[in-house]
Amino acid sequence: MSLDRPTILMCPPDFYGIEYEINPWMSRSHQSDTARAGEQWRALHELLVALGADVPLMTPVKGLPDLVFTANAGLVHGATVYLSRFRYSARQGETPVDEAWFTAHGFRCVTLPEGDGMDFEGAGDALFVGDTLFAGYLIRSDAPAMQWIAEEIGCRVIPVQLVDERYYHLDTCFCPLSETEAILYPPAFDEYARKALRESIEHPIIVADEEAARFACNAVVLGEHVVVNTGCPVLERNLRERGYEPHATPLDEFIKAGGSAKCLTLRLDGEDAAAWRNATTK
Ligand code: ARG
Repeated sequence: MSLDRPTILMCPPDFYGIEYEINPWMSRSHQSDTARAGEQWRALHELLVALGADVPLMTPVKGLPDLVFTANAGLVHGATVYLSRFRYSARQGETPVDEAWFTAHGFRCVTLPEGDGMDFEGAGDALFVGDTLFAGYLIRSDAPAMQWIAEEIGCRVIPVQLVDERYYHLDTCFCPLSETEAILYPPAFDEYARKALRESIEHPIIVADEEAARFACNAVVLGEHVVVNTGCPVLERNLRERGYEPHATPLDEFIKAGGSAKCLTLRLDGEDAAAWRNATTK
């Protein structure tokens, strides 16, 4: 696979549905609509392709409804992927499928050591800002797992504790845009984490409760383009003011599982969010 342009892994929602309840958004009595989910997923896929991304697809597997959320497959760093170790057994069957895909596509797969404190849910909880890894922990991933990975990579890690069950993955409440900017929902973090984020992100875009619940922080960043669920007008305005171009696309069917744009994608070529600014100022 050539990674000379933004490359994003997705998985079609053929077997997507609400089959279990592992976060407060999920309710088996509030089922997703298969046809609508398919349409929304395809629209996201088309948008990313139109914005210049290469989008390889994983083959969906019956019985693994959350496999669509490829952000949780692992954390990609160069040609290495740190595979997830899911908290809940309902999702643990995804890892062998992810591993097979990565191996077939030339990645080196690393599995976390056995033992307590080693749960890890991939790019859902681990996001780079420059060379620093921001690591969400407590609800799904464990802090020791994050430390272990950061040591393997040889990077600085800032563990941030998540305290709101609705924002159970870091990518539901934090989205780096560049080395100094990020979309952020502070109430999802404990006080210490809020302070760490304040100190390291110079220019945050803070989202209010209502848009956080529309998954405003769960955006896909492609240079100056930011793809996000519909219903986040304030975020869109703030992005425009800073020179970004927001693209809203409806993803309600996936919010029923607690996911949106970012969760449905996994960047395979490194999330070099600030590159376009450097390119235009050079
Ligand atoms: N139903 C899935 C779960 O609870 C949703 C995962 C969303 N993924 C993400 N990166 N936030 O695990």
